[in-house]
Formats: sequence, C-alpha cells, structure tokens
Amino acid sequence: LDNGIGRTPAMGWNPYNAFSCANTESLIHTQAQKLVDLGLDKVGYKYMSVDCGWQATQRDSAGGITWNPTRFPSGMAGLGNFIHGLGLKYAMYSVGGFFSCDDVGGTAHWLGSLNHEDTDANIFAQWGVDYLKYDNCYSVSETDFVDFNPPFELKTHFTKMRDSLAATKRPILFAACEWGLQDPARTWPGGSVANSWRMSNDIGPPPSWANLMRIINQVVPITGFAGPGGFNDLDMLYVGHNELTAAEQQTHFSFWAAAKSPLFIGVDLTQGNLDSALSILKNERVIAINQDPLGKSINFKRRYTNDNDVWAGPLADGSTVVLVINLQASSRSVTFNLADVGFSSANAQDIITGNSLGRLSNSLTTTLQGHGSLFLKLTSTTAAPAPQFTFYPASSGA
Ligand code: GLA
Repeated sequence: LDNGIGRTPAMGWNPYNAFSCANTESLIHTQAQKLVDLGLDKVGYKYMSVDCGWQATQRDSAGGITWNPTRFPSGMAGLGNFIHGLGLKYAMYSVGGFFSCDDVGGTAHWLGSLNHEDTDANIFAQWGVDYLKYDNCYSVSETDFVDFNPPFELKTHFTKMRDSLAATKRPILFAACEWGLQDPARTWPGGSVANSWRMSNDIGPPPSWANLMRIINQVVPITGFAGPGGFNDLDMLYVGHNELTAAEQQTHFSFWAAAKSPLFIGVDLTQGNLDSALSILKNERVIAINQDPLGKSINFKRRYTNDNDVWAGPLADGSTVVLVINLQASSRSVTFNLADVGFSSANAQDIITGNSLGRLSNSLTTTLQGHGSLFLKLTSTTAAPAPQFTFYPASSGA
C-alpha cells in the first residue's frame, strides 16, 4: 500500500501469543516498559500493540467505538500517551466484522468496526494510533464467528477501512488479518489494500514445529508479493516459548526475518530467563536482513525430501541471503549445494554469529541441530553453469 509507511516490515510486541485476549492497561504498561528496559526498542521493536479484548460491547452515544473501562481505566487515548511517552508507536486492533474475534469461542461480542469505518478510523487517529491490525471475525453475519465460505466480502471491508484511515490524514500502518483467505495472491492487486496481510491461519496456539512448517509451506507460492509497503505477514513470533527448542526458535526467527514478515514479539517480557530468546530477537544482523530496503523475500529453491529445504533471496547491496533448514528433528550432517541457489562459489558469512566462512566452492557440509538452520550471506558470487538435464533417450525401436 503506497501510503508512505511500512516500507520495511513492522516490528513490535503483541500480547496475543502470550496472553490471548486478556489485554489490560496494566499489562500493556508493564510490557511496554520492559520492551524499553530490555533495549528491544533500540533494535527496532517500536510498535506496542493491543489485541482482542480491549473493546466494550456497546458503542457510545455518538456511535463511536469505545473501550472496556475496567480493563483500561485511563482510556485508549491515555494508553496512546503512555506508549508514545516511552518513544514507542501505538498499534491498535479492530475487526472488519459485526463483532471482534475473541478467545471464548465467539461469545464475548466485543465491538467490531464493520459499517463504522469512518467513525472508528477518526477515533483511532484521535487516540494517536500508528498501526491498525484489522481482523476478520463475524465478517459475513452476526452469528458466524468465523466464516470461511463464500461470498467473501473481505476485499470490500478491508478496502473501506484502508480508505477511512487514509481520510484521517494520520499515517496509520494498515495490517490486514484475513488469514490468507483473500490475500494478494488470490484476488487483491498485490499490496494495494494493506501494508501487510496475514497469509495463513493463526500460528497457534500451540507453538509447534508443525505450525511453523505449515506456514513455511504456505508462503512458497506467494513470496513474490513482498515488497516495500506490502509484506506477507507470517504471524506473530513464538520466540521465547519453550514448547519450541532453541534451534527451532532460531529457524523460526531467521525464516520470518528473511521472508520479510512483520516481526511481533509474542512472549511475556517479564518472565525469568529470557536470555536465549533475547539473543535470537536482538541479533542485529538478522534484523538487518528483515529491514533491508530492497524488501524482497527469500524464495523456495529446493526441497531434499525429508532432509532439508533451501531458500534464497536478494539484498539491496547485491548479496544473497540463504537459509538451509534441517527438516529432521535430530542433529545431523547437511550439505548445502551452491548450485541450488545459482552459484558455483561465493564468499560466505554466517549471519547468526557474524563469522566469515571464507570462500565456498560447490558445497558446504555442516552439522545442523534438529530443525536447525544454516543462515548465510553470500557475496562475490560466481554463477554456476546452467544445470545439465539428461532426458530419457527416445526409444530406437525394436
Ligand atoms: C484472530 C487473529 C489472531 C488474534 C485473534 C484474536 O484469530 O488471527 O492474530 O488477533 O484473532 O482473537
């Protein structure tokens, strides 16, 4: 979406993966303060979000969206002031439906913005909102919590809110959350409706390797839609959730970064022992890949079935980022063949450690942990000769 913002993927914190819809003012205050105390804002995590559960169930007398005063005693403009006072940006949540998504199976009936787009966009702008995650429950009727069936009216709903936000004149990043039902790969002209679009169903709960692979598989055909102002949103991060191993969390973060997904931390920042999560989340070389101004995603190159995946993509400085993922749960030796990404030799840097691996020729064999990965930046590359295919010889007849 060409609205001057979101030229690189958004980065921030969102409560949903750790707290579901239990949003409260004190929770957001505590987490926002922690985000700053831990220095996460300094490396780029600027958008502090609310998600489902901040809303009231009745509009105010003027028809405006309003909040739950028990959960947010200082109100939503007050929350914006607090967030801005910490030097962070304010990420709001609403829904292009009759009611909000919720976590109790569709009975909370918190307010949605459908048919109130102009009113609500103006209210969000007055509250100082900088980002709107726009979700998709009850979008067709007041009785269907989630309607996966046609007629999809998402395009109309999301386009309307895009235009209502634009009319406020406040720069508000527009993040569509339509679970891939109607993303640009399907019917939208790529990137013209939103600054990002959720291209899959929710990443969880629970956090699991199977869920990560589901999303990785789903992004294969749509990597080409990522570009400055419009990105595939692979969903919020489970880094710090120990249902995933450290190696899985690192692969998760590296993949999301290189696919140019928005990066929203989804862990309780007050929990003890965040060291390993922070070392993943604060790696400035990985963040630089995500924030590279070219904005192109890594693309699927090759799957060695039951063995490893090879992905690669370009960076603004002409170098190539490569991600090789061990598909097995056990630690094992994996070979990266440079020809799979078009090269015969290249200088390589390990992006996670920053160490130079020197000049690679043809291949690199290394040990990868279960579901672990090799994340490389290749420079001074030499193109590989075009692959030689041997066709099955025509029968000479008998
Ligand atoms: C949907 C979204 C999630 C989250 C929940 C809230 O499922 O995809 O990211 O916002 O709603 O209920």
